[in-house]
Amino acid sequence: MTRTVLYDASEVFCGPDERIEDGAVAVDDGRIVAVGPSDAVTREHPPENAETAIDASGRAVLPGFVDAHTHALFAGDRADEFAAKLRGESYQDILVAGGGILRTVRAVREARSEELLANLRSHLDVMLAHGTTTVEVKSGYGLDTETELRMLDVVARADDAHPVDVVPTFMGAHAVPEGREAGAYATEVATEQVPAVAEQGVAEFCDVFCEEGVFTVEQSREVLEAGLDHGLAPKVHAEELAHVGGARLAAEVGATSADHLLHATREDAAALADAGVTPVFLPGTAFGLGAEYADPDPFVAADAPVAVATDFNPNCYARGMGFAVTLACVGMGMTPADAVAAATRGGARALGRDDRGTLEPGARADLVVVEGPSHVHVPYTFGTNAVDVVVKDGEVVHA
Ligand code: NIG
Ligand code: FE
Repeated sequence: MTRTVLYDASEVFCGPDERIEDGAVAVDDGRIVAVGPSDAVTREHPPENAETAIDASGRAVLPGFVDAHTHALFAGDRADEFAAKLRGESYQDILVAGGGILRTVRAVREARSEELLANLRSHLDVMLAHGTTTVEVKSGYGLDTETELRMLDVVARADDAHPVDVVPTFMGAHAVPEGREAGAYATEVATEQVPAVAEQGVAEFCDVFCEEGVFTVEQSREVLEAGLDHGLAPKVHAEELAHVGGARLAAEVGATSADHLLHATREDAAALADAGVTPVFLPGTAFGLGAEYADPDPFVAADAPVAVATDFNPNCYARGMGFAVTLACVGMGMTPADAVAAATRGGARALGRDDRGTLEPGARADLVVVEGPSHVHVPYTFGTNAVDVVVKDGEVVHA
């Protein structure tokens, strides 16, 4: 048995209403076995008997971040589009002109798998150093069966080769390929790509970009229902740039999450809560686009546990969850405790993972130690990394 003990922490953050001052966490074989006041935990699990003992005095211990929405597998970058947007071009103008997602699609189709894998691994290294212990990665820069399968294969290889747990999502319906019509392409995704992805057995979720000028609600439904028939749980990019009904669709198909929600209404929030769909906020995208942030109030009123994630992609080059938490507080008005919970437990919920995202006996021992004495230091510290130590499955993987 390998044992890890973190002790004398100023705060152990288990959830917004569960914070232990002068706390400790004990881990056996990758699972948490005790959480509580430091003197009680260390009496039962003495640090001197542990393989790894971490004196966390003056610092806070939190669950590892669960980043539930990224497009982290790509080639090239789009820094010039960042500059173009600052000059006033819109995200949709750039996409319609063959830039944006379509440009990354060209780069990914041309890239060798080894190059894609190296890119993803280097991003995972950065995410891990910023406290992310589980990350969702979508395909969706292939937009043809062969390249979508190749992307998902690279995601699976990255998961095998890296301490961060990588959750694969198929997103063949991320954009309409150049020269194609949306309806015919959605049918291709539903009837050709989804069965091929299920056959390869590499994706857990099926996501669609349900958006004005991309896929309609009915086209999105066709793709998501095909996914369900093949064992892929639905996710929806909903109400990001306009209100088109993606949140309602997410509720109707019983999606695991509905993401973005910048234009969601009170009725949408209630429908998602009733259907048990986890809302995922991506404030980095709004920040980068200079758009208005999602309003969390209707979701709080609907009593829905929410998630906050990075949306890391070439249009939102943000890999650290700490910055997403800062924006959730400063931009969206969430409390630091709620924002940290959304980045941990909320993210786990948005990925259907109930074994992580909190600190309690039986949970996976994915933890971070931050350089300040409380969870508030996560949003409070921006521009630099607040994470000192990262523990994944009980092992120190970054210090
Ligand atoms: O979640 N909205 C669609 N997908 C991404 C952007 C991907 C890209 O621009 O490459 C998003 O923001
Ligand atoms: Fe996205």
